[in-house]
Amino acid sequence: MEKSRYEPRLHLFVCTHMREGSALGPGCGAAGKAVFQQLKAHVADRGEYGAVWVTETGCMGLCPKKGCTVAVMPAAQYFLNVTDEDAGTFLPWAIDRP
Ligand code: FES
Repeated sequence: MEKSRYEPRLHLFVCTHMREGSALGPGCGAAGKAVFQQLKAHVADRGEYGAVWVTETGCMGLCPKKGCTVAVMPAAQYFLNVTDEDAGTFLPWAIDRP
């Protein structure tokens, strides 16, 4: 095992898991994809490629009723019901917080 030399200052994990026909609901699916695209665009606009990573993930077991789940690392904070409308404020908040 080897520790990576590359570590972001902030890593956002966006659930894009999709469940069709499940009693557990549809999953974050399309909402997660929209948030993921928005966050990637914000990172590009800010030129933060090396410092802020945005990664699609599968289900984190939190499964919100609307929107998607976003995990913020290394703070280990989880946000539910995140929509693409939130994404415009989410990245600046996450980057600028102490
Ligand atoms: S489907 Fe996204 S957290 Fe479960």
